[in-house]
Amino acid sequence: MAIPAAPSLSERYQDATKYSPSSVQGHPGLDFSAQPPPFKEWHQARRVVLAGGPTDDSPPSAGPMDAMRLGRLLYHAYGVTLVREFPGMSMHYRAAPSAGGLYPTELYVAVHGIDGIPDGIFAYDARDHSLVVCWEGDFWADLSACTFEHPAVAKARVVLIGTGVYQRSAWRYGDRAYRRVLLDTGHVFGNAVLAAPQDGLHVVPIPYFVDDGIAGLMLLDAENEGALLLAAVVEAGDDAPALREAPAYASPIDRESHDPDDGAWIPLVHGAGNIARPMPVEAEAPQPEVAPGEIALPDDPLAGGRAVLSAIRRRRSTRVFAAGDIPIEGLGRILAHAYPRPGSPDTDAYLLRDVLQTHIVVAGVSGLRSGVYRFDERTHTLTTVQTGSPRDALHRSCLWQELGRDAAFGVLHTLDLPKAVAAYGERVYRTAHLEAGLIGQRLNMAALRLGYGASGIGGFFDEFLNALLMVPQTHAVAYVTTIGVPE
Ligand SMILES: Cc1cc2nc3c(=O)[nH]c(=O)nc-3n(C[C@H](O)[C@H](O)[C@H](O)COP(=O)(O)O)c2cc1C
Repeated sequence: MAIPAAPSLSERYQDATKYSPSSVQGHPGLDFSAQPPPFKEWHQARRVVLAGGPTDDSPPSAGPMDAMRLGRLLYHAYGVTLVREFPGMSMHYRAAPSAGGLYPTELYVAVHGIDGIPDGIFAYDARDHSLVVCWEGDFWADLSACTFEHPAVAKARVVLIGTGVYQRSAWRYGDRAYRRVLLDTGHVFGNAVLAAPQDGLHVVPIPYFVDDGIAGLMLLDAENEGALLLAAVVEAGDDAPALREAPAYASPIDRESHDPDDGAWIPLVHGAGNIARPMPVEAEAPQPEVAPGEIALPDDPLAGGRAVLSAIRRRRSTRVFAAGDIPIEGLGRILAHAYPRPGSPDTDAYLLRDVLQTHIVVAGVSGLRSGVYRFDERTHTLTTVQTGSPRDALHRSCLWQELGRDAAFGVLHTLDLPKAVAAYGERVYRTAHLEAGLIGQRLNMAALRLGYGASGIGGFFDEFLNALLMVPQTHAVAYVTTIGVPE
């Protein structure tokens, strides 16, 4: 009889960070005096002030990448879109949502060959919409080597580098913060992917890179900050779709190391996903189990254009859903926007194929029975899993948050973690959560543009959701997006 493989580090991390009613009750409370600031303090005097920020109203442009369009891209990815004053502090709300409003994602850019900006690596300081000069010089040969000569890097004048500053989120969420840091970063890149085409640009996400090489280039302190996702910004053209076709690389699998103490998981699970050399994905990638479902959804994606940018600038997460249903056409359009069909020119939402599974929990969609469904993005169809109102179950599963109780529907992402790790190595934990965040941002923006409300939910009782979705407990629930009628 075959001996079952010991669980991978990703599986052990997932288990160690599951919420249960008893773990949530035992939470010691928050020490506000220990909260890290949401911005880095840069002492470098040299900054490049960007155009394309909050007061920019110039029409979209085309042609070679320039400083204006870089500014506009960064602003719509992760700029400050609202400042609210609270006693003793100003809260900077950003273009992308963030679990708990803690903003652990840092956005850097490598630039070469743009008029008005020296070649170099910069940190984006959203407070004054400027680039802080980290290092001047042309780093393209290093970046190219670190991305296994990714074809989009060769074409790009800009590479976005998203990192996570763990403690900003871990301060509140402990070891579970890594999940939210990844989801948050996916949202930031989701914005960039959505905003770029409005300015004749194309953002090509690059999830596989030599981690130590990037960390060395950026002088990151591995205990506190890790590079999560890169993206090349290319000028839109006929060859842009082909630039996505870089191979996937696997990382090793760690079935042996000892579990760390509480509070020490994050650098370990991040490091386990690191890639040092090009290890192609050899095992067969996990295949989805669903056949095309029995319910075909109306499929009418939203148009692009200026409305995309203004919606990002206005965006806020919905705090309270009102009573009221969303028609099945609305559900279909939101999903069509979030899951571009294979072969369509707009498939940058996908970092991975066939790893994430999508479940729709329907509580108030007119034209569709309440219940739980599997969604197949290739055929844009639903398969019924169970019927009946899921409101109480979703309410309880989302830590009794009213958003769960009152949503018209929830979109949930899961992955068969043991199978995914066997195919892609530990890196899949990172990539799948980034992708869930990226799709989450597309869901949010589609819902808001159609006049509905949306909020991500990162706090949930994992095992309750597995039961509701009727997926095995070994599958990881990555993310919940709630969508409904805003108050
Ligand atoms: C990964 C992620 C998880 C989130 N989880 C929750 C949640 O569990 N409950 C909630 O009310 N809001 C949640 N939010 C929404 C944030 O609270 C919200 O983004 C933040 O307060 C900033 O506000 P804004 O999105 O309106 O800019 C989440 C957002 C993200 C991106």
